[in-house]
Amino acid sequence: MPPSPFSRSWTDRSRPGYKVRYAVRHPERVVPYVRRAGRDLWLRLRSRGDHVAYYRGVMASDTARSPEAAVGGAPSRERWLAIGRMQFDYLVGHGLRPEDRMLEIGCGNLRAGWRFIRHLEPGHYYGIDISPDILIEAKRTLVRYGLQDRMPYLTPVDDLTLDFLPDAHFTVVHAHSVFSHSPLEVIDECLAHVGRVLAPGGFFDFTFDRTEGREHQVLREDFYYRTETLVGLARKHGLRARFMDDWELLPHGQSKLRVTGPEPDPAVP
Ligand SMILES: C[S@@+](CC[C@H](N)C(=O)[O-])C[C@H]1O[C@@H](n2cnc3c(N)ncnc32)[C@H](O)[C@@H]1O
Repeated sequence: MPPSPFSRSWTDRSRPGYKVRYAVRHPERVVPYVRRAGRDLWLRLRSRGDHVAYYRGVMASDTARSPEAAVGGAPSRERWLAIGRMQFDYLVGHGLRPEDRMLEIGCGNLRAGWRFIRHLEPGHYYGIDISPDILIEAKRTLVRYGLQDRMPYLTPVDDLTLDFLPDAHFTVVHAHSVFSHSPLEVIDECLAHVGRVLAPGGFFDFTFDRTEGREHQVLREDFYYRTETLVGLARKHGLRARFMDDWELLPHGQSKLRVTGPEPDPAVP
């Protein structure tokens, strides 16, 4: 696994020592961090341990401030466009065709989705998200880019059982910057069910915040995993996960895994 120049995979952001050093280097970020920690504590108390309810609250609050920032940190249109294009170009480089049928998990306000929708045949894009607020922004993105005739589906969900979707339908499933905000049980639930909706030969790409050190989380908003943890989780559900080396070359702090169904057993006719 080559080291990415863009990820700091040994850093443990949950350690007090890291936080103090960070505060000294960036004193202007201390007050916003304390405000965010207070808001998150209130949202966590209100959601009584239900992560999806908690994160939906985070998204509602962030989206009200800036939909661009809600899906990716910096509130800049340029960055929103650039990260969407990076996701799109990567998948097209890996052979995404108009006839593919795509499920985008955590589609947000269609940062990449509007490009997928424009590329795919009408009705071939399905976006799901836990946040109704960001899905309203997604609808605005559709209108802004004049994509009404592409007939995409946009659906709010409260879990990742994918129970309302058909068997063996999607050739591409995509989740960018979603598992970087997910505790392991949410990823586990997704991997337990995604195999059912994947078409034969289809794949599921997802990004994650990679650590080479101790797995940790910050404010239950950002989660850092070792690659082998997620590969093992996929294996537990009969899926194969492959680390995407070429994604590491792109200017993005997260890593990417590609999950595929089990290879057919040649002994079985
Ligand atoms: C950082 S944003 C990224 C959005 C989009 N993938 C993109 O790249 O612009 C994360 C999105 O995932 C959604 N999300 C988080 N956890 C989710 C879950 N368990 N199921 C579905 N969506 C989720 C959030 O509401 C948010 O819209």
